[in-house]
Amino acid sequence: MDEGVISSVTKARIAVVTGGNKGIGLEVCRQLAVNGVIIVLTARDETRGAAAVHKLKELGLYDVTFHQLDVTDASSISKLADFLRSSFGKLDILVNNAAIGGVELVGDPSFVEQLFKNEEVKQELNDIENLTEERLDELLETFLKDFEAGAVEERGWPTELSAYKAAKAAMNSYSRVLARRHPELRVNCVDPGFVKTDINYNSGILAPKEAGSKVVAVALLPEAGVTGALFENGKVSSFV
Ligand SMILES: NC(=O)c1ccc[n+]([C@@H]2O[C@H](COP(=O)([O-])OP(=O)(O)OC[C@H]3O[C@@H](n4cnc5c(N)ncnc54)[C@H](OP(=O)(O)O)[C@@H]3O)[C@@H](O)[C@H]2O)c1
Repeated sequence: MDEGVISSVTKARIAVVTGGNKGIGLEVCRQLAVNGVIIVLTARDETRGAAAVHKLKELGLYDVTFHQLDVTDASSISKLADFLRSSFGKLDILVNNAAIGGVELVGDPSFVEQLFKNEEVKQELNDIENLTEERLDELLETFLKDFEAGAVEERGWPTELSAYKAAKAAMNSYSRVLARRHPELRVNCVDPGFVKTDINYNSGILAPKEAGSKVVAVALLPEAGVTGALFENGKVSSFV
């Protein structure tokens, strides 16, 4: 790279999208790239990731690079961090998109909304002034024990898609903890709506394009924008 290219790369915003090989993640990569952001499209599977990058390049979006990332693998995370440090020396946008539903479909897809019935857990997840990473880990450990003991309903956890919902609630709370700890950053959550993707066996209503634009609008918030918020349909919404 010559110096001109390096300085233009450093000035451009760099984004990492996790689970960027399909669904909402791929669409977020596409829309961010259209907005002039340099994309590090990550996927746990190299073949699927490379195929996704190829798709974007076919659309004329050339500032897209693939890097392997399995979000459950610490050494994979650390290799990505080294790559970002040595290639760009910075990261402007992280779209923490990767997830699994954690269930197998046995009948018609039905994704009933449930709120936690366990009021104590709800209060703790919402008490951002006092919540810590350690306490979040403990709450998730408790969930796992209750799940293994078949006590999900009795202990007030969601009874459908329990692990997915417990993990998402913890992730939302963790994002708010990070927002409080790093006021210089914007750390926000987005509810994309019910989107037709593999995670729900394509039973969703919205197209990934529509969901992607909701995520991208938040990812491109200006520096002085809101932080520690949940966005639903383009508006700040309540977490509980
Ligand atoms: N679709 C909806 O209605 C809906 C609603 C609310 C929230 N969301 C959220 O939106 C996000 C995107 O979901 P989607 O609907 O686009 O689902 P999707 O099409 O199933 O995509 C999920 C992505 O996450 C990746 N992934 C899973 N585990 C991973 C891991 N350990 N490391 C790295 N990547 C991993 C998948 O990779 P593989 O291809 O390798 O499996 C895939 O790229 C998720 O966080 C989901 O919870 C979706």
